[in-house]
Amino acid sequence: MVRYQRYHQLKKPSLLIKQQQGDEDSQTLIFEFGNNNFLYCKKPKFVFLFLLVLLSCCLVFAPHLFTLYTFAVGNDGYFFDTTRDYVPICASITPGNICCDRSSIRSDVCFMKGDIRTHSISKSIYLYSSKNISYGRKLQKQKGEVIIQHEKIKPYTRKWEKNTMERIDELDLFAVKKSKKNKADSNPCQVKHSVPAVFFSNGGLTGNVYHEFNDGILPLFITSQHLKKQVVFVIVEYHEWWFTKYENILSQLTDYPVIDYFADNRTHCFPEAIVGLQIHDELAVDSSLMQGKNTSIRDFRELLDRAYWPRISGLLDEEEAELKANMSSLPPWMASLREEEEEIKQADLKTKPKLVIISRNGSRSINNEEDMVELAEAIGFQVEVLFPNPRTELAKIYRVLNSSDVMIGVHGAAMTHFMFMKPGSVFIQVIPLGTDWAAETYYGDPSIKLGLEYIPYKILPKESSLYGKYSEDDPVLADPDSVNAKGWEYTKKIYLDGQSVDLNLRRFRKRLVRAYEYMQQRKRHGAH
Ligand SMILES: *[C@@H]1O[C@H](CO)[C@@H](O)[C@H](O)[C@H]1NC(C)=O
Ligand SMILES: *[C@@H]1O[C@H](CO)[C@@H](O)[C@H](O)[C@H]1NC(C)=O
Ligand SMILES: *[C@@H]1O[C@H](CO)[C@@H](O)[C@H](O)[C@H]1NC(C)=O
Ligand SMILES: *[C@@H]1O[C@H](CO)[C@@H](O)[C@H](O)[C@H]1NC(C)=O
Ligand SMILES: *[C@@H]1O[C@H](CO)[C@@H](O)[C@H](O)[C@H]1NC(C)=O
Ligand SMILES: *[C@@H]1O[C@H](CO)[C@@H](O)[C@H](O)[C@H]1NC(C)=O
Repeated sequence: MVRYQRYHQLKKPSLLIKQQQGDEDSQTLIFEFGNNNFLYCKKPKFVFLFLLVLLSCCLVFAPHLFTLYTFAVGNDGYFFDTTRDYVPICASITPGNICCDRSSIRSDVCFMKGDIRTHSISKSIYLYSSKNISYGRKLQKQKGEVIIQHEKIKPYTRKWEKNTMERIDELDLFAVKKSKKNKADSNPCQVKHSVPAVFFSNGGLTGNVYHEFNDGILPLFITSQHLKKQVVFVIVEYHEWWFTKYENILSQLTDYPVIDYFADNRTHCFPEAIVGLQIHDELAVDSSLMQGKNTSIRDFRELLDRAYWPRISGLLDEEEAELKANMSSLPPWMASLREEEEEIKQADLKTKPKLVIISRNGSRSINNEEDMVELAEAIGFQVEVLFPNPRTELAKIYRVLNSSDVMIGVHGAAMTHFMFMKPGSVFIQVIPLGTDWAAETYYGDPSIKLGLEYIPYKILPKESSLYGKYSEDDPVLADPDSVNAKGWEYTKKIYLDGQSVDLNLRRFRKRLVRAYEYMQQRKRHGAH
């Protein structure tokens, strides 16, 4: 369940490519802008102005030319002055237009407005226009329709990752001017919708919770939340399991049933469409790039809370009924004993901070996890161990984490669940040898943005199961970066699949105590 990367220096100044791969053996390239600065420029202000002028011209005259700007705009918003309101490239799209924003390194997104009709058999979306559109040359005639504009898009958020994108179906978007001769509709509406559509692909998903949230669910939130549920999701390469797993969240994003694009070949008509999803950063929402003010990752978490509440309250009711039934089946003296036990348990829950261990089996497991549990209990925590797998119901995981104060886990995709922790709680990530960059980038940094108290625990060579296998001065122990630089196969084999952890409990104890004191302090303050 893990993904990794290696570093490559490109010829372009300050452009660093990090290459990585996931479980599904896909290749990942992450572009990072050095020094948090604008890409090629030594004189940022000048280039900024120049591009702004160019961009404005293109917006007016030739929206389809935007492919030219692949690297003009950093996905982190370096182009736009973030102290001002965010103005998306295609913000001023007018009816009859397709505008594609290909500026992000992570995803392309096309916007359509007007008489939009799906044609799923040809994997196409048509935009019919009765207006005289002067821009662009007429491309071709087809069944008496003049195609004014043609865009291709793969509506998935890992644009830089060639192997993944090869598996994603491409959609054709056509802006068509109906000729006078052909008044009869060649593609009449069969289902007419009054709200916009968001088209996206689930083709890249393989049951890895990190990818499901990072590539799909969060981008869906970013792209559609401003529509306030008045949106229809049209899913390309729909998976039933995905729908079942994320139904709770989807119901918070749309009031309408989702459409399985390839299974439903009727012509659906929409007044507006967004094809592709916007994405900001690893498991993050950049407020400065959001439509709708002040929307952040915390709003996403609040949405999760609303999404899981009905299911969780149902579980609570069931358990209460079961407890009552259990009690009534007991003789009265035993029932009163049980009641007392229950009260003590509840009182414990209130006073003791709760610590959850997200446990792994096999690689990157904690060999002395039981000792760690004992230690945590001795410090004063109430401890629960979770073994999430791709089939574990998310509401149940949410329930445990939402009621916890500290989450501990070894770096891996399951760390994605940090998003289920309440802001202000503690996240301790155990970082095995050779996984520093991924641990910080995918989970550490994003957890801080959510408002968690993040405590990294970078293990020492002696705490790695690799310690006995290699000599102390072997690069595997002494210089993991140099091993990672040799290639993904090495990272995966040695550090990800070949390593487990023996925590030095005396060292680890300091983090636990820090977490404990932090939570006790918070509780005291909260109590006032
Ligand atoms: C489009 O242009 C034709 C001739 O060039 C003109 O007769 C017609 O009225 C125009 N239609 C619209 C909607 O502007
Ligand atoms: C459209 O879908 C229906 C029902 O799934 C199917 O019977 C029909 O053959 C499909 N049409 C085409 C052209 O694929
Ligand atoms: C956004 O949030 C900040 C801090 O929470 C607040 O000070 C500011 O007024 C908010 N702005 C808007 C436009 O709501
Ligand atoms: C999560 O925890 C908060 C605070 O304890 C509680 O108010 C909320 O109802 C919980 N959410 C769910 C879905 O259980
Ligand atoms: C009720 O009793 C059953 C059988 O003894 C037990 O498994 C279950 O956990 C009990 N339920 C509650 C809510 O205490
Ligand atoms: C851990 O893996 C072993 C073998 O790989 C298996 O026998 C065991 O049941 C697993 N334990 C859990 C809790 O999944």
